[in-house]
Amino acid sequence: MRQKKRQLALLIGGLVLSATAWAATPSGEMLGNTCAGCHGTNGNSQGPATPTIAGISKDYFVDAMKAYKSGDRPSTIMGRIAKGYTDEEVDAMAKFFAEQKFKAGMQVSDKGKAKKGAKLHDKYCEKCHEDGGTSSEDDAGILAGQWEPYLHYTMKDFMDGSREMPKKMKKKLEKMHKKAGDAGMDQLMNFYASEK
Ligand code: HEC
Ligand code: HEC
Repeated sequence: MRQKKRQLALLIGGLVLSATAWAATPSGEMLGNTCAGCHGTNGNSQGPATPTIAGISKDYFVDAMKAYKSGDRPSTIMGRIAKGYTDEEVDAMAKFFAEQKFKAGMQVSDKGKAKKGAKLHDKYCEKCHEDGGTSSEDDAGILAGQWEPYLHYTMKDFMDGSREMPKKMKKKLEKMHKKAGDAGMDQLMNFYASEK
């Protein structure tokens, strides 16, 4: 009997606690819905300059929001937006978006270039952007099926140093660029755009 009462008390206590927690921090889904105007329903963007954020890893998401907030990562819009959220809210959204399924944007690509791009990817990028760039493990973001215009200006930001990249990526990217030039970059972009 006593045991039962205690269990009940614990249960009610738990309910009250979780209700309070809910009131304090809106769910990741509720917060995430406010991003849909630009990033699309559940983070699958319809627009070419706004990246899809569905399915990106929690770590990558949190790092990106922090870097926008601090200004370490250049942005047109996200710097201002990121400042509006607490760490708890960012964590809740990270979990929500990581659980959504990434859907590739409908894009045209050049078959011949994509084929060459696939080879370049294997040689210079696959080590960290695994499974043809579909994986967001290793905190690296999803490349396969990501909007090409977004990837294009992101690569520009990396190349001119306005967005910092990991040292090892820099080495590989420079090697690739030295060997294959701007054409190689174009081939890589066509490869990612060709992936579904
Ligand atoms: C007004 C349009 C707009 C809104 C609203 C918006 N974003 Fe963005 N987001 C962008 C753009 C554009 C970029 C590319 C960086 C830039 O230029 O700001 C971006 C980039 C990002 C990235 C980086 C993705 C990557 O692949 O590295 C994340 C993460 C992100 N946004 C999260 C969010 C979250 C979370 C919200 C809602 C709280 C949100 N955004 C609301 C336009 C928007
Ligand atoms: C040593 C590991 C490594 C290698 C090799 C590497 N990358 Fe990356 N890449 C990363 C990491 C980590 C990030 C996340 C960086 C950040 O936001 O701080 C990243 C981010 C990116 C992004 C930004 C994604 C987004 O959503 O904004 C692009 C684009 C990219 N890499 C392209 C490439 C290409 C193309 C190659 C091959 C030429 C390559 N990377 C090789 C580790 C790597």
